[in-house]
Amino acid sequence: MSKPRAALVTGGSRGIGRGICLELARLGYAVVVNYATRPDAADAVVAEIAAAGGRAVAARGDVGAADDRDALVRRALDEFGRLDVLVNNAGITSQGRKDLLEATEESWDVVFDTNLKGPFFLSQRAANEMIRQIDSGTIPDGKIINVSSISAYAISLNRADYCMSKAAMVTMTRLFAQRLAEHRIGVFEVCPGVVASDMTAPVREKYDRLIAEGLWPIRRWGQPEDVAKTVAAIVLDYFPFSTGQTFHVDGGFHIRTL
Ligand SMILES: NC(=O)c1ccc[n+]([C@@H]2O[C@H](COP(=O)([O-])OP(=O)(O)OC[C@H]3O[C@@H](n4cnc5c(N)ncnc54)[C@H](OP(=O)(O)O)[C@@H]3O)[C@@H](O)[C@H]2O)c1
Repeated sequence: MSKPRAALVTGGSRGIGRGICLELARLGYAVVVNYATRPDAADAVVAEIAAAGGRAVAARGDVGAADDRDALVRRALDEFGRLDVLVNNAGITSQGRKDLLEATEESWDVVFDTNLKGPFFLSQRAANEMIRQIDSGTIPDGKIINVSSISAYAISLNRADYCMSKAAMVTMTRLFAQRLAEHRIGVFEVCPGVVASDMTAPVREKYDRLIAEGLWPIRRWGQPEDVAKTVAAIVLDYFPFSTGQTFHVDGGFHIRTL
C-alpha cells in the first residue's frame, strides 16, 4: 500500500495553522505540525489528530532559520517518506504595533524573517524536494500554499513591516507559481481577512464593533476553519487549471464599494 500524502504546516500549532492541520488530517494527510516556542500547543494538535485516527508529528523550528527549515523538510521525509504539500502559514504581527514614524529595525527584521524570508526559502527547499519526488514517482504532484493577509493591500500605519511582508508574499506566490508549473507543483495564495486567533485577541473589541457596522459584507469574524476549507479545496485539486491564484477568505472585505 502506498504511503499517505504528507503535509508540512508552519505555525500549525495554533490559530489558522491549527485549523489547517486538523482539516488536512481529516482528508487523510499525515501532517508535520510546526511550532516555534510552544510545544504544548503543537502536542495538543497532534493528540487531537491521533485521537481521530490520523497521523501527525510536532516539529519545533523557527522558519526564519535556515537549519530549522531544512530540519522541517527532513522531518516530513523521515516520518512519512514524502512531502506533497507545504503550507506557509507561520507569521507574526508587527512588534509593539508602533506608528510608522516610530517603527523599529528590530521589528522589521523579525517580521521579515518570519513572514517572508522563511516562507521564501522554505518554498525553495520544499520545491526542490518535491521535484525530486515527482521525477522519481514518489508523489504525483505538489502544492505550496501561502497564507498572506488583507494587510497585503489594506494598510495599517501601526504595522508597516507586517503589511509590506504580506504584500511581498503576493509576488512570491506568482514567482514560484511560474517557475514550478512545469513540474506539476501548484502555488497558491490564501488571503484571510480578520480571523479569530491569538493574533487578533488584542483587537477583538475593535473588530466586534467594526464588524457590526459592516466593515465587510458577511458580518461575522473569520474562523480558522474558513481558511482551512479553502486549503482543503486546493489540495483536493478542485482548481486543476489554476496556479498563482489568490483566494480571498475575508467575508467580502476586498470588494470596493462606492
Ligand atoms: N488572525 C488573523 O486575523 C489573520 C489575518 C490574515 C492573515 N493572518 C495570517 O495567518 C497566519 C496565522 O495567523 P494566526 O492568527 O493563526 O497566528 P497565531 O494565532 O498568532 O499563531 C501563530 C503560529 O505561528 C507560529 N510561529 C510564530 N513564529 C514562528 C516562527 N518564527 N517559526 C515557526 N512558527 C512560528 C506560532 O508558534 P508558537 O506558538 O510555538 O510560537 C503559532 O503556531 C499568519 O501568517 C498571519 O499573518 C492572520
